[in-house]
Amino acid sequence: MSTTTRQLDTSELEERVKDMYQEVALEPGHEFHFETGRPLAERLGYPAADLDRIPAGAIESFAGVGYFLGLAAIAPGETVLDLGSGSGTDSFLAALAAGPDGKVVGVDMTDGQLDKATRLAAEAGFGNVEFSKGYIEHPPVADASVDCVISNGVINLSPDKPAVFAAAARALRPGGKLALSDIVSAEQLPEGVTCDASLWAACIGGAMQRDRYREAIETAGFEVVSVQENTEYRFVSDRADNATQKYGVKSISLLARRS
Ligand SMILES: C[S@@+](CC[C@H](N)C(=O)[O-])C[C@H]1O[C@@H](n2cnc3c(N)ncnc32)[C@H](O)[C@@H]1O
Repeated sequence: MSTTTRQLDTSELEERVKDMYQEVALEPGHEFHFETGRPLAERLGYPAADLDRIPAGAIESFAGVGYFLGLAAIAPGETVLDLGSGSGTDSFLAALAAGPDGKVVGVDMTDGQLDKATRLAAEAGFGNVEFSKGYIEHPPVADASVDCVISNGVINLSPDKPAVFAAAARALRPGGKLALSDIVSAEQLPEGVTCDASLWAACIGGAMQRDRYREAIETAGFEVVSVQENTEYRFVSDRADNATQKYGVKSISLLARRS
C-alpha cells in the first residue's frame, strides 16, 4: 500500500503572498478573500481618534485581523518591532505611543507595502518609524534590542512559525512583550486546505491549531499572559467562510512575555 503526502510549495506560496499584498497596497479598493480598510479597523476595536492621527493611506490598506495595541501597552521611549508591517497602520500607531524618544521598525517582504509605508511616513513627518525589507523569520534587528514585538495577521502566513517566534524572542530584551493578532484553528486543517496556496495567502490555509500555536510560543521562551478571541473578525468569500466554519478558523489576540 502506498500513501502520498502533499507538500506546500513554499516558493509558490511566497509569490502568492507577495502578489496578494502588493495588490492590497496598490489597489486597496479591490475585493479580497478578507476585509480591508478603516471600516474593518474600527470594527476590530481601533479607536477612531487614534486612526485620525495616522496617514489615511495606511489605513485604506489595513489587512489586520484584530486589535492588540491595548494589550501591548506601548510606553513612551520603547523600541518596537512590527513583523509584517504592511502599509503601516500598527507601526504608525505604535510610533505615536512610543513618542519621540521611542522607535518603531516595520519589517515586510513585499515591495509595494514597504514603498507605500515609507512614503507615507516621510509625507506625514513620522521621524521615529522606519520600514525595512526582510523576512519575519529573520528580522534585520540586533539581539535583545527591542522592548515590544507586534504583529497583525501575518504569522499564519509563515510556513515556519517556530522560526518566527524564535526570532521574536531573539530580538526582545528579557521581560519584553510579544503582542499580536493572528488566525488559528480549533482543529488541525487537512492537507487539502494547508496545501492550497490561495487559501494560505488569504490567511486561512496557514492557520495553526491553537494549542500547537501557544506551545510554539512557549517553546520559543515566552510566558503567555492572555489570549482573547476576536469575534468581530470574519472572512468574506464563500470558500473562505466554508473552511472557517468547518475547522473553527478564528482570530485571536495574544500577549506574551519573554522569560
Ligand atoms: C495580512 S497582511 C497584514 C499587514 C499589516 N500587519 C496590517 O495589519 O495591515 C500580511 C503582511 O505580511 C507580509 N508577510 C507575509 N509573510 C511574510 C514573511 N514571511 N516575511 C515578511 N513579511 C511577510 C505581507 O507582505 C503582508 O504585507
